[in-house]
Amino acid sequence: MSGRSGGCLIVFEGIDGSGKSTQMRRAAAALRSAGWPVVELVEPTHGEYGCQIRALTRPGAQRASPEEELDLFVLDRQENVAQNIRPALKRGDVVLLDRYYFSTMAYQGARGLDPEAIRARNEAFAPRPDGVLYFDLPVEVALERIERRRLAPADLFERRDYLERVKAIYDDLAQRLDYFFTIDAARDEESVAHDVMAAIGQILRRI
Ligand code: TMP
Repeated sequence: MSGRSGGCLIVFEGIDGSGKSTQMRRAAAALRSAGWPVVELVEPTHGEYGCQIRALTRPGAQRASPEEELDLFVLDRQENVAQNIRPALKRGDVVLLDRYYFSTMAYQGARGLDPEAIRARNEAFAPRPDGVLYFDLPVEVALERIERRRLAPADLFERRDYLERVKAIYDDLAQRLDYFFTIDAARDEESVAHDVMAAIGQILRRI
């Protein structure tokens, strides 16, 4: 575990609409009521770079190049690691993180950048998590859940195609990395929450 001791870092990953943020809030509440010191964090953050990222991804905004996007996500993450993640781990907290560098591998990878090069650049400064919960959901279901009704057919095709490529990178990571836990996110919220707590239990027992 790259140069740190104490604490536990658990990451929630998945395509948009996979329900990971709702599940993270539930898990945080459950862990707190069981007495664990929990810190909830999200990327992109609400800091300077996170706000720049949100401005770029707002509907109608001119899309940045993949390289520019990558640089901004890395700057945002460097700040998050230094100001929030490492101090919390040092205190011995359980850190629940909504998206991390696997999102960059998947989303910027799906825009043509090399996922493994993205991973190497991130792991040079970002601690490796103890576990990643991957919320696995078919793209079609995710689109139903989020914005199908709001998208014109051409945009829908583009969005579907992009999310399929994002999902393919996540699926590949889930197969290769032994700290990934795949959660079937197509089920009802209670069943998913049950699997989330089972996976977190395993991760906490391992550290
Ligand atoms: P959210 O929907 O979880 O708030 O995430 C915001 C969007 O940012 C989402 O579409 C995924 C994208 N994203 C990237 O493209 N690269 C990254 O490194 C991260 C953290 C998010």
